[in-house]
Amino acid sequence: MDKHARMATLQEQIRRCQACPNIATRRRVVCGEGNVEARIVLVGQGPGAVEEETGRPFVGPAGMLLDRVLAEAGLQREALWITNLIKCRATKRERGRLVDRSPSAAEIKACRPWLEEELELIQPQIVVCIGTPAAQALIDKKFKMNEDHGQFRTDAHGRRLLATFHPAYVLRLRSVDQAAYERVERALVADLKKVAAAVEETA
Ligand code: URA
Repeated sequence: MDKHARMATLQEQIRRCQACPNIATRRRVVCGEGNVEARIVLVGQGPGAVEEETGRPFVGPAGMLLDRVLAEAGLQREALWITNLIKCRATKRERGRLVDRSPSAAEIKACRPWLEEELELIQPQIVVCIGTPAAQALIDKKFKMNEDHGQFRTDAHGRRLLATFHPAYVLRLRSVDQAAYERVERALVADLKKVAAAVEETA
C-alpha cells in the first residue's frame, strides 16, 4: 500500500475513535492534511470551531495567520503536513455555549497514538510544535516558549523538533500590546525561517 492509501486507512480509524470524552460533543473529527511526503510536519494543539465545522486543521483565524507567516518564511502550506495533538475539538460550556478550552493531559495521551502513527508514516525531517501544549507534549513538559522557542531538539525517537509561538497567541497579543504582537510575530517568522533553512540544507 502506498503512503496515500495508508494515510487514508489511518484517517478512517481516527474518525471512528472513541478514546476520549470529546466524542460526546464533537461534531467532526479533524484529521491532519497536506503532503504525505512532507519533510516538515506542523503539530498544533487541537481544532477550534472553524476547523470542526470544515473538518480541516488551521483554517480559522489562527490558520490564516499561520498561512501568512509560512509564506513569509518561504514555506508553502501544501508542501507540509499539518495536524494537531488532539483531533476532536475540546470545549467547555459557558453561558449555555460551547467554547474552546486547552486539551487535558488525558485527552492528549488518548490521542497520542494517532499522532505517532502519522509521524511514523510521514517520517518528516523536522516536527514543528505550534504552541506550548504541543511543545510540552512532544519536547519537554517544562518547555517555556519565551525562552526555548526556535531551538532544534532531538527526542527519544531521534526526531528533530523545534517549537514556536501559536498564531492564536499572536492574535490575542494584537489586541492588547502592539509592540509585543510585532515582536512575537517576528520571532514566529524567524523560527519558521530556521526550519526552512534546515530543510534546504539537506535537500
Ligand atoms: N489551533 C490549533 O492548535 N489547531 C488548529 O487546527 C486550529 C487552531
